[in-house]
Amino acid sequence: MTTQGYDDPPALPAGCTWVQDPREERLRDYFSLTDVALRRVVEPERGLYMAESEKVIRRALAAGHRLRSLLMTPRWVDEWPDLVATATAQGAPVYVAAPQVAEQLTGFHLHRGVLAAVHRPQLPSVDDVVAGARRVAVLEDIVDHTNVGAIFRSAAALGVDAVLVTPRCADPLYRRSVRVSMGTVFQVPWTRVDPWPDGVGRLRDLGFTVAALALADDAVSLADLETSPPERLALVLGTEGDGLSSRTVEAADVVVRIPMGGDVDSLNVAAASAVAFWAVRPRERG
Ligand SMILES: C[S@@+](CC[C@H](N)C(=O)[O-])C[C@H]1O[C@@H](n2cnc3c(N)ncnc32)[C@H](O)[C@@H]1O
Repeated sequence: MTTQGYDDPPALPAGCTWVQDPREERLRDYFSLTDVALRRVVEPERGLYMAESEKVIRRALAAGHRLRSLLMTPRWVDEWPDLVATATAQGAPVYVAAPQVAEQLTGFHLHRGVLAAVHRPQLPSVDDVVAGARRVAVLEDIVDHTNVGAIFRSAAALGVDAVLVTPRCADPLYRRSVRVSMGTVFQVPWTRVDPWPDGVGRLRDLGFTVAALALADDAVSLADLETSPPERLALVLGTEGDGLSSRTVEAADVVVRIPMGGDVDSLNVAAASAVAFWAVRPRERG
């Protein structure tokens, strides 16, 4: 292996380690980052998630998350000394590598100059996450990380207080979800609801009206819910291909349809979420 462009290791501040061999075992949190199937398993298993870009890392830190390590290319070490200092204060190593070495290590070019491996925080209970919430979104088995991230972004912007994800729903802390969410996965309280759809009963016990968003013929129009929304409302969104399971639709208090035209079968789930969140937003919040 070479450190292309760097004949000698650059001078680095305390706490930084110059990386020359991208196969070193201590760097394994960064191996094969483009292998989605692998990362989906290893990240929760090892209790970590990856944050890419300075902004996302700062948002994670602001949410109280703790770094396991940082990986930077040399020019950014001088640019963001406070990130290096925070990592060092948290006892997290800062690995510095030439761009080509970082690329061999992760599988992609580090355009944003920095990547962090972050300790995955313990998930709170459903009761804790929805305490005080008036609007909750439930994501049933959504598989696409882009959709998960986009729904969190809309939730943060449109007055949804908490998000619940079912056991088979894609990981909100996966790199792509975090990026698409613009860091709102650190802002909107969320947890896994397991078992599901048994959790519908728990939400009802907690005073929520559970609304299944589905294309059923006997569904009420979103306009009806908009006119007189209940005080506490949980909106359940279904998976991209098949939509909500029949068990969930049967368990729900109401089935709601967003009227569509143009011979379109259904909306993308993230688009549907934004329309619904807007329609039922608590009015006094604007
Ligand atoms: C792409 S759709 C799934 C389509 C699936 N063929 C079906 O029949 O439900 C994914 C999810 O988005 C939501 N959705 C999409 N369009 C909707 C609409 N017009 N009304 C209500 N929900 C909608 C539902 O929650 C749905 O499960």
